[in-house]
Amino acid sequence: MKNNYSILTGITPSGSGEVHIGNYLGAVVPFLELQKNADKIYFFIADLHALTTVQNKLELQRNVENLVLSYLAFGIDTKKVVFYRQSDITEHTELQSILNNVTPLALIKRAHAYKDKLQKGTDPEDINMGLFSYPILMAADILLYGPDYVPVGDDQKQHIEIARDVAGFFNKTYGETFVLPDIYNIKESARLVGTEGKRKMSKSLNNYIAVFADEKIIRKQIMSCYTDPNRKKVTDPGSVEGNPVFTYHRLLNDNKDEVADLEKRYTTGTVSDMEVKEKLIFAILTKFKKERALYNELKSNPEKIKDILREGAEKARVQAAKKMMEVRERIGITNKYSEFHY
Ligand code: ADP
Ligand code: TRP
Repeated sequence: MKNNYSILTGITPSGSGEVHIGNYLGAVVPFLELQKNADKIYFFIADLHALTTVQNKLELQRNVENLVLSYLAFGIDTKKVVFYRQSDITEHTELQSILNNVTPLALIKRAHAYKDKLQKGTDPEDINMGLFSYPILMAADILLYGPDYVPVGDDQKQHIEIARDVAGFFNKTYGETFVLPDIYNIKESARLVGTEGKRKMSKSLNNYIAVFADEKIIRKQIMSCYTDPNRKKVTDPGSVEGNPVFTYHRLLNDNKDEVADLEKRYTTGTVSDMEVKEKLIFAILTKFKKERALYNELKSNPEKIKDILREGAEKARVQAAKKMMEVRERIGITNKYSEFHY
C-alpha cells in the first residue's frame, strides 16, 4: 500500500435502495478504514448506473436520498471526502462515450452483469445497452479521478479489471493518460451470504438485513433467517458452519464472549434458534445505534443534504473537467484553433 494514496468508490441506488449489512461489511468498512489515511477520497452515488434497472423517477429519487443519508450516517467525513452524485458530473458520460471506441466488444461480452442476464435466459437482443456498457461507464467513473485504490466487494472486481484494461488500451493508443486503479478488498467478509443462506446478500434479492430500517422490519428480517435445517428440536445439536445467523454474529456482534457461548450451546443443543436470533437483533441494533440516530436526524434536514451534494459536485467537477481537457487534447478534440500544422 502506498503512503499518499487516493481512493474512489461508488454505490448504485438500485433495488430497494436500502443499505444492508453486506454493503456495510463489503463496502462501508473498508471505505472507513481507507478514509483514515487516504490523501484524497471520491465517493459517489452511481445514479446513472441505476438507470439500467430503476426506470421510475420517484423510486430513483427515493433510493438516492436513502443512500446519501445512510452513508453520511456511517460517518463519511465530507470535509475530507468529495461526496457527489454521478449524474451531476457530465464528464462521466462524456468520457464513457470516448472510451467506447478503445474498448473491444469481446472484453465487454465477458462481463458478469451481461453474462448473468444471458444465463438467466434473457434474449441478448433484449438486454439494454446501459447494462451492456455498464463497465465502460464504471471505467469512466474511475479514470477521470485517477485513484490508486478502488474499494469494492468481490462482485465488482471484474469491473475494476475491465477499467484497467480499458485504461491500458487508451494509454497504448494515445499515450500515458490514465492511472491504472488497484482493487482494495477485504477478504473474509467480501461476500456476505444472504438470509436464505445460499446467494450473496443483495438488495435486489430481498435476502438482506437492512441497517437503517425500523426495528420491526429488522426483527422480521432476522427472524426469517435460514438456520440449520437438520435441527428439529432445541436439544438437537446444530451446526454453526454455513449457518448465516452465526456468520452475522461473528462479523457484527461486538460481544465476542456471547458469540462463543452461543456457538457452544448451539452445537451441544442447549440454546434455541429464537434466542440466537434475539441476541443477533440486539447486537445489530446496538452496533448501529449511533448511526441510526444520525440517520433520523439528517432525514429531518433536507437542506443540509442538498448543500453537501452541491459542494461535493463542485469539487468533483474541477478534477473531472481537468482530466477531460487532457483527454480531449490527446484524442484531437480540442477547443484550440488548429493552425493546420499536422
Ligand atoms: P446490492 O447487491 O445489494 O445491490 P450493490 O451492488 O449496490 O449491492 O453493492 C454496493 C457495494 O456493496 C459494492 O461495493 C458491493 O461489492 C458491496 N456488496 C454488495 N453486496 C455485498 C455482500 N453480500 N457482501 C459484501 N459486499 C457486498
Ligand atoms: N457498480 C458498482 C456497484 O454496483 C457501483 C459503481 C459505479 C462503482 N461506478 C463505480 C464502484 C466506480 C467503484 C468504482 O457496486
